[in-house]
Amino acid sequence: MSARLIDGKALAAQVRSELAARVAALTARGITPGLAVMLVGDDPASAIYVRNKIKACEETGIRSYAIHLPATVTQQELLARIRAWNADINVHGILVQLPLPPPFDAQRVIESIDPRKDVDGLHPENAGLLLLGRPQLPSCTPAGVMRMLEAAGCNPAGQHAVVIGRSIMVGRPMAMLLLAADATVTLCHSRTPDLSAITRQADILIAAAGRRGLVTADMVKPGAVVIDVGIHRTPDGRVVGDVDFDQVRHVAGALSPVPGGVGPMTIAMLLHNTVRAAELAVDAARGRGVQSASD
Ligand code: GUN
Repeated sequence: MSARLIDGKALAAQVRSELAARVAALTARGITPGLAVMLVGDDPASAIYVRNKIKACEETGIRSYAIHLPATVTQQELLARIRAWNADINVHGILVQLPLPPPFDAQRVIESIDPRKDVDGLHPENAGLLLLGRPQLPSCTPAGVMRMLEAAGCNPAGQHAVVIGRSIMVGRPMAMLLLAADATVTLCHSRTPDLSAITRQADILIAAAGRRGLVTADMVKPGAVVIDVGIHRTPDGRVVGDVDFDQVRHVAGALSPVPGGVGPMTIAMLLHNTVRAAELAVDAARGRGVQSASD
């Protein structure tokens, strides 16, 4: 058996083209969605991620405002930049690339972002709304995974979904989105005993542990839908995920590749959240009786 591939790259292109139409509609009304991105320090991988996000904004008609600050910047300076973006009506989304280098307090920085502009979905207000089953701006990677499941024809309702990894950015919000879609969810992590006994029960398996090649064929139920959120570079320069692709593709019913799976969808959903934040800002302004240029 050979798994169907869930092509995140193609799906992301489709999402971006749908968004470009929404951006054009907003721009015609005098509002161009804007995303502000902050990079602190000189981590090469973070710099590449930020560059890809800015490029995707430009291709979709979203205005980007990027700043690159040295790791020597003070936390006060960093918070002052976020306050300025919070107050700027041209900025609809704010993203601080993580991880922040030490000694920054990432949680404090995230909490300083206006929740209406928190396109990463990491602010406690957005995390809380997700917990209540009312996501406004869900985290980008889990939101992208939900779109991938939909594109694969996989409805989570009534299915057993197993998530490996309990990170704030992926595992926890992923579990909440699957629960909101009526899946029975098991959230596993590094202290879970006999992981394979649980993963073998999964109709949907989300690998977000951050451990290269963790998911092997014997851990997968035949026919399961497997989404690989991991991203690792091998010593010989290849990019691979948390799933042993060459093994698991013979067991799974559908499988997302790395690269070309979740990665492009994460960026597409960041753009999606930025457009959504801009649309919500327009609606809120209308509710207050504020007119846009074309009203
Ligand atoms: N670092 C790696 N992925 C992400 C992401 O999705 N958002 C932010 N803010 N930082 C990241």
